[in-house]
Amino acid sequence: MQIIRTIEEMQRLARGLGRKGTVGLVPTMGALHEGHLSLVRRARSECDAVVATIFVNPLQFGANEDLDKYPRTFESDCEQLEREQVDLLFAPAPEEMYRSGATTIVDVGAIGTRLDGASRPGHFVGVATVVAKLFHIAMPDRAYFGQKDAAQLAVIRQMARDLNFPLEVVACPIVRDEDGLALSSRNRYLSREARGAALILPRTLVALAEKIRGGIRDSGVLKDSQMRLLEGARDFELDYLAIVDPDTLLPVAEALPGTLIAIAGTVGGTRLIDNFIVG
Ligand code: PAF
Repeated sequence: MQIIRTIEEMQRLARGLGRKGTVGLVPTMGALHEGHLSLVRRARSECDAVVATIFVNPLQFGANEDLDKYPRTFESDCEQLEREQVDLLFAPAPEEMYRSGATTIVDVGAIGTRLDGASRPGHFVGVATVVAKLFHIAMPDRAYFGQKDAAQLAVIRQMARDLNFPLEVVACPIVRDEDGLALSSRNRYLSREARGAALILPRTLVALAEKIRGGIRDSGVLKDSQMRLLEGARDFELDYLAIVDPDTLLPVAEALPGTLIAIAGTVGGTRLIDNFIVG
């Protein structure tokens, strides 16, 4: 696996790969776990060449968020990507990605202010800007993202559509630990107690899935059935429980097949998210 640090070299190599076959891109911020590796494996199975990126994007972190303490595990990330037979790893410095004097941003509009965009103002401008840049730099035919970040996925799809990127955005299923907690780089911040408290996220989703299977479809009734538990939970602060259209992120009156049910909250100072699509 070759490690590339500059945009110019990455674009030169990406052009070469694109002439030979299909290119799959797996953008990450590092601190890799099985969720990321599932994206890499999917890309490996569907594309002739795989490009992964590791870049902790300052533009998508708010002023009081965890940019400085975001986990950085570059060497073990490289070993894992090497094992998965990634061809190229693009890992630029912040000064390379955002050259001095750069002022252009990508704003997807209202969709970027919903769900996580409501509680993290500016977050999705940062995500859309860096992902648009990565698309221009790696020129993939397919780009792989985790379904765990459901709002991010909707924003990236909107951006790719609106800006006519000639590529397919591929969503990959959430990978969970044995206890049901969705894998996240931020799980490593959790103390043992906080990890226990975090299980309220998947458990709420399981309870809602059961209710829907039992025939309850009304979004208000479904949300009300969980609110008392969520608001009374120890060591957990609910951000949102949302029943929405997965493309627009707007609320829907009924949880029908294809509806996105998403939850976010803070446990021991760590913000976690989870979701499922109604089957
Ligand atoms: O999901 C992530 O890790 C990041 O938001 C992404 C897509 C790599 C953009 O920085």
